[in-house]
Amino acid sequence: MKRMVKNNVSWVGRIDWELKTFHGDDYSINHGSSQNAYLIQEEKTVLIDTIWMPYDKEFRDNLEREIDLASIDFIVMNHGEVDHSGALPFLMEKIPQTPIYCTANGVKSLVGQYHHPEWNFKVVKTGDSVDIGNGKSLVFVEMRMLHWPDSMATYLTKDNILFSNDAFGQHFGIEELFNDKADQCLLWEEAMKYYANILTPFSPLVKRKIEEIVALNLPIDIIAPSHGAIWRDNPLQIVQSYATWADNYQEDQITIIYDTMWNGTKKLAHALAKEIQLLSPETKVKVFNISQTDKNDIMTQVFKSKAIAVGSPTVGKSILSAMGGFLHFLTELQFKNKKAAVFGCYGWSGEGNEVLGKELNKAGFSMVEASVKCNWNPTEENLGEMKVIAEALCK
Ligand code: FEO
Repeated sequence: MKRMVKNNVSWVGRIDWELKTFHGDDYSINHGSSQNAYLIQEEKTVLIDTIWMPYDKEFRDNLEREIDLASIDFIVMNHGEVDHSGALPFLMEKIPQTPIYCTANGVKSLVGQYHHPEWNFKVVKTGDSVDIGNGKSLVFVEMRMLHWPDSMATYLTKDNILFSNDAFGQHFGIEELFNDKADQCLLWEEAMKYYANILTPFSPLVKRKIEEIVALNLPIDIIAPSHGAIWRDNPLQIVQSYATWADNYQEDQITIIYDTMWNGTKKLAHALAKEIQLLSPETKVKVFNISQTDKNDIMTQVFKSKAIAVGSPTVGKSILSAMGGFLHFLTELQFKNKKAAVFGCYGWSGEGNEVLGKELNKAGFSMVEASVKCNWNPTEENLGEMKVIAEALCK
């Protein structure tokens, strides 16, 4: 089960091809995932992170086949979320005195979740280091709010490996472990989905943290995250991508997201797509029915877009509930520097567009003035009106 990463560093994690959702059911998994834990065997033996609780026995048994657990000198917990710390309590039953290196917030998180204040915590902060023998040491870098208050990264000198935990990861299953072995389209699709859906609200912190890491001038040969592929081929490419994504990222794309009761709003959505294509053939246009499409995949498309158009019919003086849930998620992510427009059909009261506009405003979008509100089913004239929105979004 132990697989070499470099020299005396091995991967001891778990690849999960069956996983379909994550964070409860809030994040969709399309191509498997992994929880990556690592074992360093220098003069000191160090375990970096564990795996998810449902597999705690499998993890401990596998580890025990590789080493005497009592030989672990200390454990580094880069992050306390259950997918990385879940197997810790079961492991600690066998080695209860083993020091656990983590941030001060890491202690709060681990004690809060597992109720073992007696564990031998060693609190570290940015710049602290531990000698692990053979001329190597581990240096800790706090990664506060990337994406939890307790998150940190650990750097192994001489081997030049950055154990970055969630940062630079992807929910992506890859038996071959390394980025150069991956299907590049899938790898980058999943890396972007991960950033868009989890890290977007923290983009200002990502920018600052990358500047801080670059300023440390550490040679980096490998970035070993806690999910998905390990970056050994040009590892800084993912750092560069994060720097780009954190800087109000957008492509020449407009995404149309709608829900519909009797297909009227659907017709408006597709009419808008045609108008945008006519007006700006270079612009990518994508259309999604929110009730029929995975919300995380749509969110990745929003992340790539310079503008979005959102449509819902009026129902109960408001909008359809699937759209309401999606807009709530959109507000959590707080995208910047993107335009938005609204449209929708109504029978009598017609509040839908106003509700959509308020929610999009709250989510940080710049609303264009143009909108289309269509009474009952769209006529040819109504469909033609979508040109006004197309012009405003393409401007
Ligand atoms: Fe992969 Fe924040 O846990």
